[in-house]
Amino acid sequence: MLHYRDTPVQKIHDEVLERAQVSLLIKREDLNHPYVSGNKWWKLKYNIKDAVDNNFKTLVTFGGAYSNHIFATAAAASEVNLKSVGIIRGERTLPLNPTLSFAEQKGMKLYFIPREAYREKKIPERLLDELEDPYVIPEGGSNLWAVKGVRDFADTLKCEYDYLCCPVGTGGTLAGLIEQVNVRKIILGFPVLKQADFLINEILNLSKKSKDATNWRLMYDYHFGGYAKTTSQLLEFIERFKLLHNIPLEFVYTAKMMMGVYDLIGKNFFKPGSTILAIHTGGLQLQNGSPE
Ligand SMILES: Cc1ncc(COP(=O)(O)O)c(C=O)c1O
Repeated sequence: MLHYRDTPVQKIHDEVLERAQVSLLIKREDLNHPYVSGNKWWKLKYNIKDAVDNNFKTLVTFGGAYSNHIFATAAAASEVNLKSVGIIRGERTLPLNPTLSFAEQKGMKLYFIPREAYREKKIPERLLDELEDPYVIPEGGSNLWAVKGVRDFADTLKCEYDYLCCPVGTGGTLAGLIEQVNVRKIILGFPVLKQADFLINEILNLSKKSKDATNWRLMYDYHFGGYAKTTSQLLEFIERFKLLHNIPLEFVYTAKMMMGVYDLIGKNFFKPGSTILAIHTGGLQLQNGSPE
């Protein structure tokens, strides 16, 4: 199995919170593994177990050139002695960026396919012959095994809280939380994509409970221009947050959620006296002082 480190819940001290009479806690899941960090650890947990238990030798997955999922899958496969193949959207550009060169260092074979063909999310014909018996994990790692893993993560949340917040990409993490968390808690997902209409269906597919549960909501206003887009305001927020609380955030996922949470606090969205628990889902790749 993958190595796992226990992670703390960090209380945030801030005048803004005092004024709004709310408490903010951050579950530092970014610290659970140097490379397979945050939600990735939990999303890969049962995919890897299933692959190993059934004697698969190669994990195959999909992602963009900066994908946290590609990064994490390469590291996870190498840790459990599986081979890995990454099908990457777009052209190979050299030198490879740090995400992809890390993936190659961990032994992942990279195949680049044009954006059009990538959309089909299918293993290209030419590769099918080469790969004997691949274990295929979808883009972003969101499948029912991922949901099961995130349910285990939800069980590790022992502190008292009223609202649970997480960033949303493909919806797997949010689906797992909806499945497992008590319906008296309110779950807020912060989509990082501008075109996020597809998410509701994804979540309904991944979580049966999500259909009837009324305790979850997508907060669509915090994509900051779309996937991997940023603004100077967001970058300043990241800097300030690191300075004040010594917590690193990245602009693709966690900073968007956290800035959304602060915006909502400012708008008195949260009930006075309540506790917000935000999940740091990782995604820092090589930015958080990992060894090697
Ligand atoms: C750091 C980080 N946070 C959050 C997410 C969103 O997770 P999901 O795709 O399960 O919605 C991702 C992507 O998977 C991620 O890399």
